[in-house]
Amino acid sequence: MNSASQTATLDQTAPAYQEDRVKVTEGVDDSHVTVGEAMLDNAKMSMRDVHVHYGDTHAIKGISLDIAPNEVMAMIGPSGCGKSTFLRCLNRMNDTIDICRVNGKIQLDDQDIYDSNLDVVALRARVGMVFQKPNPFPKSIYDNVAYGPRIHGLASNKAELDDIVENSLTKSGLWDEVKDRLDTPGTGLSGGQQQRLCIARAIAVSPEVILMDEPCSALDPIATAKIEELIGELSENFTIAIVTHSMQQAARVSQRTAYFHLGKLIEVGETSAIFTNPQHKLTEDYITGRFG
Ligand SMILES: Nc1ncnc2c1ncn2[C@@H]1O[C@H](COP(=O)(O)OP(=O)(O)OP(=O)(O)O)[C@@H](O)[C@H]1O
Ligand SMILES: [Mg+2]
Repeated sequence: MNSASQTATLDQTAPAYQEDRVKVTEGVDDSHVTVGEAMLDNAKMSMRDVHVHYGDTHAIKGISLDIAPNEVMAMIGPSGCGKSTFLRCLNRMNDTIDICRVNGKIQLDDQDIYDSNLDVVALRARVGMVFQKPNPFPKSIYDNVAYGPRIHGLASNKAELDDIVENSLTKSGLWDEVKDRLDTPGTGLSGGQQQRLCIARAIAVSPEVILMDEPCSALDPIATAKIEELIGELSENFTIAIVTHSMQQAARVSQRTAYFHLGKLIEVGETSAIFTNPQHKLTEDYITGRFG
């Protein structure tokens, strides 16, 4: 089990890595203990000893991590280290992959999200997801946003549904650009607009947590800046976990950062500390561009 006290022990026993700083330099064998405070007292989502297998591939190897309410947590690490796999555990999107097995405990507030009685559709309304490639439905802009509220029965009449659609598009920063063409196809928007439409679709069902898997990787710098600004605003109402390959983005949008490597969670901490004073050599190698 990870804990702050074990972290302290690790730090003290680790060989000196630089003259002025003690670094943890051990590898990532099965005994690896996450450096930093992975567990919190007031978690919104809580993951304990999570393992994921795809057939014989052991993709996530015993990760424990908490995400605090209203925080933006960045998940970083080299390609193939398991970021998307781990993120998909948080709203059971891995259930859709036949060969995927998830073990361990994952809670949303105090509820075990892998409980066999849990309604997965309701879970995915509480824990929404925005993907790397914008994926609007082949429907109008209005219907893209209204889709979730309709299936979850969140509006009792057309006026209420209109309000939800307008509010969601306003929160996602898209309303002014689309209010005069709500009946046109969502797929007719630019890439950055489509991603904001997908964010509006995710927030229309009033989720508690939003998972974002590289939401800006297909966008230009201006669209990216808009989404990053939006993430800051959204975190007032939602808890956000974002996978990103951009360390600048992680530094700009998140309060805490988790560094993954070969299916393990190597280090987690305040974003500013992770980027200025990483404790594990693997984290340092990655953020300084020596690896990945
Ligand atoms: N659907 C799948 N079927 C089989 N193996 C998979 C599947 N998805 C991921 N994996 C494997 O699980 C491991 C973790 O992959 P994952 O996609 O989670 O990494 P990632 O950190 O998100 O990488 P990237 O930064 O490239 O998106 C890899 O070894 C990958 O090959
Ligand atoms: Mg990925």
